This record gives sequence, C-alpha cells and structure tokens, in this order.
Amino acid sequence: MHIRIRILLLLLHFCHKGVASFHSSRVDESSSQDLRSLLHFKQGVTSDPDGALSDWNTSSHFCLWSGVTCTLTTPYRVLELDLSRLSLCGPISSFLGNLTFLEYLDLSQNNFVGPLLPLLGRLQHLQYLILHDNNLSGIIPDTLTNCSNLFFLHLSSNLLVGSVTPKLGLLSNLADLGLGSNQLEGRIPDELGQLVNLEMLDLSHNRLSGEVPHAVFSLSSLLWLFLHDNMLGKALPPNTGEHLPNLQMLWLRNNTLEGPIPASLGNALGLEDIDLSHNKFTGQIPRGIGNLSALTWLDLSENYFSGKIEGLIDNLTQLKHLDLHGNEFEGPIPASLANLPHLRQLYLNDNNLQGPALFTSHAHQLKQRKFVCVANGRCLAYLKKLKELLDRAIGFTSVKPIFEKTKETDDHMGWVFCSLPPEMRTRNQAPSRTLSTEPVYSVYFKCNKKLIREYPNLFNYTKDIYRTVNMEHIQKSYYGGHSPINPYGTIPVGPNIDYNAPHDRQKLKA
Ligand SMILES: *[C@@H]1O[C@H](CO)[C@@H](O)[C@H](O)[C@H]1NC(C)=O
Ligand SMILES: *[C@@H]1O[C@H](CO)[C@@H](O)[C@H](O)[C@H]1NC(C)=O
Ligand SMILES: *[C@@H]1O[C@H](CO)[C@@H](O)[C@H](O)[C@H]1NC(C)=O
Ligand SMILES: *[C@@H]1O[C@H](CO)[C@@H](O)[C@H](O)[C@H]1NC(C)=O
Ligand SMILES: *[C@@H]1O[C@H](CO)[C@@H](O)[C@H](O)[C@H]1NC(C)=O
Ligand SMILES: *[C@@H]1O[C@H](CO)[C@@H](O)[C@H](O)[C@H]1NC(C)=O
Ligand SMILES: *[C@@H]1O[C@H](CO)[C@@H](O)[C@H](O)[C@H]1NC(C)=O
Ligand SMILES: *[C@@H]1O[C@H](CO)[C@@H](O)[C@H](O)[C@H]1NC(C)=O
Repeated sequence: MHIRIRILLLLLHFCHKGVASFHSSRVDESSSQDLRSLLHFKQGVTSDPDGALSDWNTSSHFCLWSGVTCTLTTPYRVLELDLSRLSLCGPISSFLGNLTFLEYLDLSQNNFVGPLLPLLGRLQHLQYLILHDNNLSGIIPDTLTNCSNLFFLHLSSNLLVGSVTPKLGLLSNLADLGLGSNQLEGRIPDELGQLVNLEMLDLSHNRLSGEVPHAVFSLSSLLWLFLHDNMLGKALPPNTGEHLPNLQMLWLRNNTLEGPIPASLGNALGLEDIDLSHNKFTGQIPRGIGNLSALTWLDLSENYFSGKIEGLIDNLTQLKHLDLHGNEFEGPIPASLANLPHLRQLYLNDNNLQGPALFTSHAHQLKQRKFVCVANGRCLAYLKKLKELLDRAIGFTSVKPIFEKTKETDDHMGWVFCSLPPEMRTRNQAPSRTLSTEPVYSVYFKCNKKLIREYPNLFNYTKDIYRTVNMEHIQKSYYGGHSPINPYGTIPVGPNIDYNAPHDRQKLKA
C-alpha cells in the first residue's frame, strides 16, 4: 500500500513536465532510434487487451503516444515510459536498452515475462526502475549496477531467482530497494550496508538465509525494513537500534531468529510498527521497549519470550494492536492494559499469565475492542479468531475442533460481542455464515455435531444480529445454487428457529 502511495507521489512529481508540440516530420537520428525501440517494444507485447498501445503508430509523433514522455527540446528523446497496470503480456524487448535518455521506467503490475535484461544496464540516466508485479524470471543481472543514478528499484512480486547480488551495494543513490516476493536465495550481502541513502529495504518473502548483516542496522536513513517470511537466523546484533533514529517499521516475522531482543532497540524512537512474531526469540522484553511511545503495533507472538509484562506497556499509549500470544510470559495481566485508549486488538493467550480478573471488572472499557484474548492456556485463546470463526469457519470440515473451542468460549460471548460491531450493522453485513449454521450447514454440509442454539450466549448473540440478515435469501441461494449436490433445489422447511425470541442482550449494551 505505502509503496503505491510513494509511486503516486513520484508520478505527481513528474507530471508537471507536460508535452511540447512535435512535428512528426522532424525526426533526427537519435530520435529515430527511440522510435525504433518503442516500435520493437510494442512488437514484443503479445497481448494488450485494453488497447493501451493502440495509439502507438506513426500517424503521430512517438512523444504523443500513451505512456511516453519526452524531453522538451530537440532531439526529442524518451524520458519516461509509464505503462503500469495495463494487462500487457509478453517479453520486454531488448530494444528498450536503446532508450538511453530514459529516467523513469514503470512497467509494473502487468504480465511481462522473461528475464530481466542485462541491456537495461545501458540506461545510465535511469532513476526509477519499477517492474514489480510481473512474471519476470532469471537472476538480477549485475549490469543493473551500471544504472548508477537509480534511486528507486522495485522488482518485487516476480519470479526472480539466484542471490541478491552484492553489486547492488554500488547503487549509492538508492532510496528504495524492493525485491520482496521473489525466489531469491543465499545470504543478504553485507554490501547493502553501503546504501547510506536507503529508506526502504524490502527483501521479504524470499528464501534468504544466514544472519542479517550487521551493517544493515547502521543504515540510519532507513524508514522501513521488511525482512519477513525468509529463513534468516541467528541473533540480532547488540547495537540493533542504536543507529536507526528514523526507523518506523521493522518486520522480521516468520524467520528463525533467536536470542533476545537487543536492549538498544529501545533507542529507535521512531518505531511505530514492530513484528517479530514466529521466530525463536528468547529472554525478557527489554524495558527500553516501553519507551517507544510512537508504537501502534507490537507483535511478538509465537516466540519463547518470558518474564513479566507488567509495567512494560504503560507508556505505549498509541498502541492499537498488541499480540504477545504463544510465549512463556508469566505474572499478572497488567490492569493498565485497560487504560490504553486506542487498543483494539489484544492477544495474550497461550502464556502463563494470570487473569482475567481485569476483564470482568473493566468490561465496560473493553466493549469497543474487537478481539480480546487473555488468560491461561486455551480458555479464551480462540476469541481472537472469533470474528473469523463466526464469519467463516463454523460448519465446515473443521467443525469438530471449532465447536469444542466455541464451547470453551461461550461464557465470554457476552462481553466480547456486547454490542454489535459497527461493520455488522448494515443488512447482510453480519457474519452470515454463523447464521447459516442451523438453516443450511447442519443439513447441507452435514455439520450437525453441535448446533449454535446449544450455546446459550452464542445463540443469543445470533438472535441479536439476526435482524441484519436476510435468512430467506441465504437459504434460497445455498439450496438453489448447487445443482450437483442438490439437484432438485429442495429447500428444507426447518429448523423453525424463532430468531425473534427475546435474547436478553440489552443488558450488555449499557
Ligand atoms: C493510430 O493512432 C491514432 C491516435 O494517435 C488512432 O486514432 C488510430 O486509430 C491509430 N491507427 C491504428 C491503425 O491503430
Ligand atoms: C538497439 O537494440 C537492439 C537490440 O538490443 C540492437 O539490435 C540495435 O542494433 C540497437 N540499436 C539501434 C540504433 O536500434
Ligand atoms: C505468471 O505466473 C503465474 C504463477 O507462476 C502463472 O499462474 C501465470 O499464468 C503467469 N502469467 C503469465 C502471463 O505468464
Ligand atoms: C556497463 O558499464 C561498463 C563500463 O562503463 C561498460 O563497459 C558496459 O558495456 C556496460 N554494460 C552495459 C550492459 O551497458
Ligand atoms: C513463512 O515464509 C515462507 C516464505 O519464505 C512462506 O512460504 C510461509 O507461508 C510463511 N509462513 C507464514 C506462517 O506466514
Ligand atoms: C527511557 O527513556 C528515559 C528518558 O528518555 C531514559 O531515562 C531511560 O533510561 C529509558 N529507559 C530505558 C530502559 O532505556
Ligand atoms: C512512563 O512515563 C513516565 C513519565 O515520562 C515515567 O515516569 C515512567 O517511569 C514511565 N513508565 C514506564 C513503565 O516506562
Ligand atoms: C439468552 O436470552 C434469554 C431470553 O432473554 C435469557 O433468558 C437467557 O438468560 C440468555 N442467556 C444468556 C446466556 O445470557
């Protein structure tokens, strides 16, 4: 999302340039090379369903073609080529390497295939190379480092293989480096530590291994560091947070990182979003984390953290999301949690914490929170999934475990959903799958192990939200819409549940 916003800003930055008046008769040597290159590029495009390139013909000067911006003076040369999100398919013609004036190339969000051309290395003026969300394959060619003016390099979401070439460290102007969601392997090269202007580094969702080079944590201009979904290991260096005054987002989840959170992380005072979940971190949370007052999101779940959480989060008043589940935290659940004004999602389950006294005495303060998970073991563990669970899961193949969990949580339904969540207030926005359980799933999908009405709280909740749902429509569309399993479209008469019966939930809404 934020990457898109940045690109938008870039486009705004460029759009003042406008288009000069061109005389198609006057095409000199270097300019005709650009014409040839663009026509070759168009020839390579095997599919253009929206006719995005239909005005790319010689009836007008190429500087007037869609997506093309030229220099304002003769010889008119192509400065920018912006063809993102046009459903274009095919290889990228090597002739593009002849557009030697090119500063901005955006072919993102298409279906371009084939290798990333080494010839792009001839584009010495290139500042923006934006090719994310295509099907480009092969390696990242070393020659890319010839584009020494590159400022913005986005190759994410392609099929690139091989390693992150250490030569990228030579692109000293680079501010944004996005290589996420590819199939890159090997270590993160130390040379990336030379990119002193780097603001965003995204290597997420690859197959990178080894340790995170310590030099990366010295990149003091970094705003966003995304290394999640890899196989990175070892401990973070002790000075992790010492030289990162601007860092806002640190996503390291789903790696095999170990050891403690370095205490120095408490110095990275710009941090707003930390996700260290699904690693092998151990030890106590350093007290300094409690100084990161800009934090809105803290996810340390599914690690081996231990110690008390009391006193740690008191000053994190901006927190919206706190997930500590699946660790070895112990001691009481701090009462101060109830004072965090923005907290909406709180997961403390699967620890050795004591509770949930806080939540019975502070239920009124918690009523706006969508998911609350507290306490020992499994008691409320699944409340975090509750909305999804209600919305999606009940009644399908996982019916048995989910119903068992629901049984455990039924007592808590009252305060978890003590009022109708705003997003469910409009008709048919309610968790219609929950409401489909009795009239549809139990019959149609044979999910009859246990019915919603056997859970007193859940059933009252169902009656409460029933008014937002068109039950007749649900029944008709299920039973009428699957001829292979219900060839005659038979709609059962039952189960005749009186959803208008009193439900007693007004008492929770005070
Ligand atoms: C050539 O481009 C012009 C717009 O510049 C368009 O009106 C015309 O249909 C195009 N011709 C062909 C043959 O595609
Ligand atoms: C442009 O690039 C192509 C392919 O890379 C090459 O064959 C051609 O000679 C180059 N030069 C000109 C002037 O088009
Ligand atoms: C892109 O790759 C995906 C997954 O490998 C494949 O399903 C899709 O058909 C490819 N698209 C093109 C245009 O090659
Ligand atoms: C990269 O630059 C070197 C030295 O300037 C040059 O010899 C080489 O041909 C360039 N590579 C490409 C692909 O243009
Ligand atoms: C962890 O990352 C790998 C890719 O490196 C991905 O395939 C997997 O789905 C991720 N697991 C989770 C739980 O996100
Ligand atoms: C938190 O910040 C205060 C004031 O800036 C400082 O004195 C204290 O040492 C910090 N605590 C930790 C644990 O870093
Ligand atoms: C919270 O901030 C106050 C005032 O800055 C400070 O006195 C207190 O020690 C802090 N508490 C924690 C747990 O960091
Ligand atoms: C559900 O509603 C009925 C009718 O108002 C009430 O008697 C019952 O106590 C409620 N059940 C729970 C668990 O609140």
